[in-house]
This record gives sequence, structure tokens and C-alpha cells, in this order.
Amino acid sequence: MSSINPGFPTARPRRLRQTEVLRRLVRETNLSPADFIYPMFITHGQNVRREISSMPGVHQLSVDQLAGEAAELLELGIPAVMLFGLPAHKDPIGEENFADDGIVQQAIRAFRDAAGSGLAIMTDVCMCEYTDHGHCGIVENGQILNDPSIEILGRVAVSHAVAGADVVAPSAMMDGQVAAIRQALDAAGFANTPIMGYSAKFASGFYGPFREAADSPPQFGDRSSYQMDPANRREAMLEIELDLQEGADMMMVKPALPYLDIIREARDRFPDVPLAAYNVSGEYSMLKAAARLGWLDEKRTALESLTAIKRAGASLILTYWAKDAARWLAE
Ligand code: PBG
Repeated sequence: MSSINPGFPTARPRRLRQTEVLRRLVRETNLSPADFIYPMFITHGQNVRREISSMPGVHQLSVDQLAGEAAELLELGIPAVMLFGLPAHKDPIGEENFADDGIVQQAIRAFRDAAGSGLAIMTDVCMCEYTDHGHCGIVENGQILNDPSIEILGRVAVSHAVAGADVVAPSAMMDGQVAAIRQALDAAGFANTPIMGYSAKFASGFYGPFREAADSPPQFGDRSSYQMDPANRREAMLEIELDLQEGADMMMVKPALPYLDIIREARDRFPDVPLAAYNVSGEYSMLKAAARLGWLDEKRTALESLTAIKRAGASLILTYWAKDAARWLAE
């Protein structure tokens, strides 16, 4: 106890909680639309707006829908999107992932046309949405190979940069993926394209609804041979440190709510690096489902969750609530 404070009854913390204006004055964490990155699922076709059944309010969108989306995001003050693509065809290495006219490459151009430099266009660099086996790397005899996979991830990142991506974000959890992407970008003339590492990405059951949204479930086994064991805190710090050594400009912890301790530790251990947290699909679906049943107040619990993620130390939050939360904050 601090010596300037003699305790009760002189000390009464409730004094500063009596009115909203006082509470606002002493609030330590303020959420803003500028904190949000909005994840989006882009699909082939025309006029497609297909709602994900387990994620009410989130849609697979065709490229023609993106001009409208860009206008809405700009209006709401949301600075960035994270793009995921659903390819027309899947194959063992995911050819469309690095094709000039691939779905994400088309989406990047559409966003650039619609938003100019007003939105940071970030892209997820992974393989699971594009491969027929649904794993995040190349598969041989049931094993997920590391080094051939990072070579492909480098090609994907370059093709996103060529299309105009502002930031590439590798999420495959292959060792050395950040180094391989940095080298490939530099060699292709993109030394100024930043990398956001999905550095501490855990093998989580909370990705369930995303696999419906991105049509990316593994066709055999699971992702535990590359994503992290949820039990490991020290190893998360090692993963982040390695990403930074390999040239990552930003780091990420994913999922967010069950991993607030990891977010806090990353913030304290690496104070100079922007830290993102991914409030993942299952975190969204849980509250949506409970709200539908009338068991929880969605607005209140969503804003509380996002505030907690920021309080834990994240300066950027990837969230499916980005648009709703920006509206709620403006009320
Ligand atoms: C992999 C990737 C996943 C998510 C983001 N990038 C899924 C996975 O690793 O299985 C999950 C995001 C979410 O659940 O919202 N490309």
C-alpha cells in the first residue's frame, strides 16, 4: 500500500466511479475503431454475399462487393482489412495462391481501386484454404514438410505484394517462414513491404467456425505438428523472438481471449514492436450464440472482450466485430 494513502475511510475508490464523466476521466484503456483490423473472406462469382452459418453477420463476398465494403470501412474509421481467399480449385500445393488472377490478388486490386491508400490491405499468407488436403504446408506421406512449404509461402507473399498488398501476414506456423518471405520480398523489389508474423499461433479449437468460413478443414489429422500447444507460454516467447530475428515488423498472438497472459507477456518482453491479437472465429461465435439465446448482451460483452484484449497489451485487434464495434463506439 502506498504511503500517501492511509486506507479506509480516507481511501474510497468508489468516489471516482460515481458518474460516467468521472469514470471516463480515469479510464485506463480506450477502445477505438483505429485499433481494428477486419478479416474478410473473398470468393469467386458475382453478387455473392453468403453468410457463414456459425458466424452470423460474417459473409463470404465476391470481388464486386468490395467497393461497398471499402466505403463502409473508411466511413467507420477502420484502418485495415485482413484478406482470406477461397480458390476456384484446390490442389496439392495450392496453385491459385500465387496466381496473378488469384482471388486474393483480385481482391487487393479491387480494394486499392475503391479505397486508394485509405485502407491498409493486409493478406493472410497460408496454404490451407488452397490445398486439397487442407494443411498449411506441402504434404508427403502424411507428413507436413517444412522447407518446401516456406518456399511456396515466399511466392505467395510476393504475388500479394505485386498485386498491391500493404502488409503480408504469414499464418502457416512453418519454421523460417518469416525469413523466407523477407528474402523473397527483398529479391523481388519489395524491401518496404512489412511482415506481420502470426508468431504465437496456438492449435486451437476456437478456429472451428473459420474452417467453415474459409473452407479449410484439414482432411486428415490436425494442425498440432505445426501450430503451438495451448499449454506453452515460454515457447510462445521463443516463437515471437524468432519471428523478430527473421525480420517480422509486427507480432501477433492468436487466439486472443484464452491467451491474455501471452499477450501481456509479449507486450512486456518486446515493448518496441507493434502487437496484434486475433479475436478468432470461435470467440465471436460463442458470444453470438449466447446472445441469440438471450443469455448474454452481445454489445456489452463484445466491447468488454475487445477492451480486455487491448488492456492485456494488444495495440491492434483482428476482429469480426470491427464494424459493429466501431458503430457502438460512435453511439
Ligand atoms: C490459417 C488461418 C486460420 C485462421 C486464420 N488463419 C485457421 C487455422 O489455422 O486453422 C483462424 C482465424 C479464426 O478462427 O478466426 N490460414
